[in-house]
Amino acid sequence: DWTPANIVAETVDAIRAQIGPTGRAICGLSGGVDSAVAAALVQQAIGDRLTCVFVDHGLLREGERGQVERDFVAATGVDLVTVDAAEVFLRELADVVDPEEKRKIIGREFIRSFEGAARDLAEGAGVDFLVQGTLYPDVVESGGGSGAANIKSHHNVGGLPDDLQFALVEPLRSLFKDEVRAVGTELGLPETIVARQPFPGPGLAIRIIGAVDADRLATLRRADAIAREELSAAGLDRTIWQCPVVLLADVRSVGVQGDGRTYGHPVVLRPVSSEDAMTADWTRVPYETLERISTRITNECAEINRVVLDVTSKPPGTIEWE
Ligand code: XMP
Repeated sequence: DWTPANIVAETVDAIRAQIGPTGRAICGLSGGVDSAVAAALVQQAIGDRLTCVFVDHGLLREGERGQVERDFVAATGVDLVTVDAAEVFLRELADVVDPEEKRKIIGREFIRSFEGAARDLAEGAGVDFLVQGTLYPDVVESGGGSGAANIKSHHNVGGLPDDLQFALVEPLRSLFKDEVRAVGTELGLPETIVARQPFPGPGLAIRIIGAVDADRLATLRRADAIAREELSAAGLDRTIWQCPVVLLADVRSVGVQGDGRTYGHPVVLRPVSSEDAMTADWTRVPYETLERISTRITNECAEINRVVLDVTSKPPGTIEWE
């Protein structure tokens, strides 16, 4: 019968059978729950014959790199290689404003960074297997030219070149998201990873309306951290599916702070409730919580002098602004 412990035992056996007694595998970690649980299962099966690769594209939220490098490694003992690619991504994204152009660049650079690390490992140690956190709904959805398949494309490292051949290991292929979380908990993964709300692969880049640069990223990262902290403190993590914080970097408005006039940027709070992200409703966050978020963001983020709330459902609005 279905218990997380049974799933773990069965899956670990299946992975051992597939990879064999001497095979080696690599797995890309995104900071999200799927890749983390897939990696942890493979780690249980083959130990240090698995190497994980984490591409830090510099578009992550506050604390996320540490959650992978410190907490995930502490929980699993996994062998981890971090690729520090923030500079490359920033350079390639310079002056790019169009959302799809941003996605294309990030997808391309992500594959390039991952491929570089994979090639080094494959040549050094003879890696034959690539682990992917493909879920049952991904399996069902893929094959069509649907938005979903497209959205997932760079996450799943589908675009590896032909001369870099791996057999795929997909230990989550028959599981739904909530089952993956249950398995992650069973494996002792950190709560920050197991319970993480959805976060897009292109990260904060598609939450800056306008061009991406280091200062804007720092501002948005701080504002996002404050919003997440206050929403969690208010006990809203389960009510809210996700809450993008969006920096309107090309908009300025006049404000007043202390004795001075300011000419800063607005951020938008976009709290939504949803079952599957296909449709969503804006979440009625209590006024006191909104007030705390607004006060803290305008006090703690020098560039931001206005906090606004998005009250649009999906449809007609998407969850993200880009
Ligand atoms: P939208 O904005 O289309 O978002 O309503 C639906 C869900 O998908 C996430 N999202 C993405 N995830 N790469 C991803 O991995 C992307 O380019 C991307 N765009 C949107 C979004 O956060 C929401 O959960």
